[in-house]
Amino acid sequence: MKLEIFEAPQQAAAAAAERIAACVRAKPAAVLGLATGATMEEVYRSLVARLEAERLSLGQVTTFNLDEYLGLAAEDPASYRATMRRLLFGLSDLDPARTHLPRGEAADPQAEASRYEAAIAAAGGLDLQLLGLGRNGHVGFNEPGSPADSRTRVVRLSATTRKANRRHFPPGRAVPERAITLGIATILEARSLLLVVTGAAKRAPLRRVLQGPPGADCPASLLLGHHDLTVLADRAAAGEAA
Ligand code: GLP
Repeated sequence: MKLEIFEAPQQAAAAAAERIAACVRAKPAAVLGLATGATMEEVYRSLVARLEAERLSLGQVTTFNLDEYLGLAAEDPASYRATMRRLLFGLSDLDPARTHLPRGEAADPQAEASRYEAAIAAAGGLDLQLLGLGRNGHVGFNEPGSPADSRTRVVRLSATTRKANRRHFPPGRAVPERAITLGIATILEARSLLLVVTGAAKRAPLRRVLQGPPGADCPASLLLGHHDLTVLADRAAAGEAA
């Protein structure tokens, strides 16, 4: 594991954007694993600026997002699909046909999860998986208790996660109780992992990840077994880690 600490969250986000750009420069038809969450907003802002400045094309890139809420249609503004459209898909030359998220409105969610897992494999697997860290140590929507061998599946969200994500929903609208997420084993199959952690609210889970030992009580700690994991953190999240 490689840990890089930056003074400001914008610097950590810029470093993540640079890693994504480097991946695409090296492999224009890269398969990218994308993430959502407030941390990623700055990453995508930085990436969009960089793409424009460098005239770097994502035209041949394929993307797979980590997760999606169950019960939300793709057009729903609270869906991760709509979020990705706002932050990246609509602001780059990505081919919409090559941008993938689990379908939150699928009639058979477990079948959708299996289809999604197979689609990633059929695309040749993920070259780079971008990840954020939940306050309770979740990655994607793999909540505490998620085993290392978990695959893409339907999960029930914890009260902590639903509360943390409340702010992305209009007042009076309930945060969905379930989601489809890539599993820990699926994430570990990506060729490189990039975990971006910013803000003081992430200090405790990041400490738990860095100090180990890896355990299902903190799903992000299970990533430490990966041969190419980079953690990009700001000072507020890293504390005295280095
Ligand atoms: C959501 C996403 C996760 C993300 C987490 C942290 O729960 N499903 O993939 O890592 O939020 O988000 P934030 O950056 O808003 O703290």
